[in-house]
Amino acid sequence: MSKLGNLRSGVVRKPNETMRLLVTIFVGVVFGFFIGVSFPTLTLTRFNLPSSLIPSIDLSYIEDRNSAFSTQSLWQHAWSSVIRQNRSQTAESRNLTDTTKIWVPTNPRGAERLPPSIIASESDFYLRRLWGKPSEDLTIKPKYLVTFTVGLNQKENIDAAVKKFSDNFTILLFHYDGLTTEWDEFEWSKRAIHVSARKQTKWWYAKRFLHPDIVASYDYIFIWDEDLGVEHFDAEEYIKLVRKHGLEISQPGVDPDRALTWQMTKRRDGREVHKETKEKPGWCANPHLPPCAAFVEIMAPVFSREAWRCVWHMLQNDLVHGWGLDFALRRCVEPAHEKIGVVDSQWIVHQSVPSLGTQGQSVDGKAPWLGVRERCRKEWTMFQGRMASAEKKYYIELGINPPNATGRLQ
Ligand SMILES: *[C@@H]1O[C@H](CO)[C@@H](O)[C@H](O)[C@H]1NC(C)=O
Ligand SMILES: *[C@@H]1O[C@H](CO)[C@@H](O)[C@H](O)[C@H]1NC(C)=O
Ligand SMILES: *[C@@H]1O[C@H](CO)[C@@H](O)[C@H](O)[C@H]1NC(C)=O
Ligand SMILES: *[C@@H]1O[C@H](CO)[C@@H](O)[C@H](O)[C@H]1NC(C)=O
Repeated sequence: MSKLGNLRSGVVRKPNETMRLLVTIFVGVVFGFFIGVSFPTLTLTRFNLPSSLIPSIDLSYIEDRNSAFSTQSLWQHAWSSVIRQNRSQTAESRNLTDTTKIWVPTNPRGAERLPPSIIASESDFYLRRLWGKPSEDLTIKPKYLVTFTVGLNQKENIDAAVKKFSDNFTILLFHYDGLTTEWDEFEWSKRAIHVSARKQTKWWYAKRFLHPDIVASYDYIFIWDEDLGVEHFDAEEYIKLVRKHGLEISQPGVDPDRALTWQMTKRRDGREVHKETKEKPGWCANPHLPPCAAFVEIMAPVFSREAWRCVWHMLQNDLVHGWGLDFALRRCVEPAHEKIGVVDSQWIVHQSVPSLGTQGQSVDGKAPWLGVRERCRKEWTMFQGRMASAEKKYYIELGINPPNATGRLQ
């Protein structure tokens, strides 16, 4: 009401304006009457307006009639009542939803009280502006994600690697040494996402920061180590091949000049991809199973969105080195020996530089990296054990005999 008072005192009446004033008053009265008559009926029938609101509106119109308002202020007033009406309408509908409570069991767990179409259950790493229209924030929506787990020592190597990934990639760095701003000397670092947590492993970060719902915008996700030579690698070309050959889980072939643990990940000359291999005698009981097929290593894997959704769930929170994961990836795609493979024509070199491994702690006087290696082996055994007992439990609950074991390294 104080606003109305101000307006009123601002109006100066002069005799030569009497005619105009009369017209104004007349228009005002007619208009006010019209609204006064139509408004309460409207609100009462449509929204059952709380009675406390109606007298205050009527009162204001009585005041209107007794004072000389310009038509403009009258309009303003009418406008503000519309807004008020709107407000009470929303308050009313809020009340309605309070009594007919929303409960949608098919909503994500914990979000059952929300109307389904407001739920945003997936996200991305797209950077947005602080100003302007949200719909115009993104000039490009990267379709792929690449993550590197890095220490500043590998700065040059990572810079070279990042340059092999086009603008279609979101770049996400996991820093295990706590150094992040040091990377800003590279232009790309300013548009990269930096996550810092000291002395953690790639799979620790992956479990915590790459939830499938968070990376749902990306067709493919590269989860790479920091010590890979990428001279003969181009990410866009790689994606083309992966799509062409239907690889849900893949890795680039590894330079065969280096000592390799597995035949499968060795690069083959003159091929685009391969999906199977021969191993040492006795290593593969089944040619369709690891390490002869359905197998890539954990240093440079590439996952499709769907495959990652499964693999993420298999990551154990405490088994941070990921050992054993390579043999279990096949559980996430079907048929695994067709959807897991190695891309030969885009290949990498494994440089095997001492990195995170050297940041372990010396236990019992042993070199730090020895302690790390020991834990890797322990985790491998634990993972195998958990998988075996989980599987057994599943078949027992189902009341059927598990399929026979298929190979010594399952
Ligand atoms: C009143 O609400 C309706 C929808 O609820 C909206 O379209 C309209 O613009 C609102 N009017 C005002 C004056 O805020
Ligand atoms: C909402 O409902 C409560 C009780 O059911 C009532 O006291 C209150 O006035 C209502 N509020 C509105 C804005 O309708
Ligand atoms: C990004 O993706 C689009 C669509 O697949 C493609 O046309 C474009 O060439 C890609 N950009 C680069 C730099 O390769
Ligand atoms: C599984 O092993 C049992 C005995 O070890 C054998 O009798 C059975 O035929 C095997 N089943 C399959 C599907 O290989």
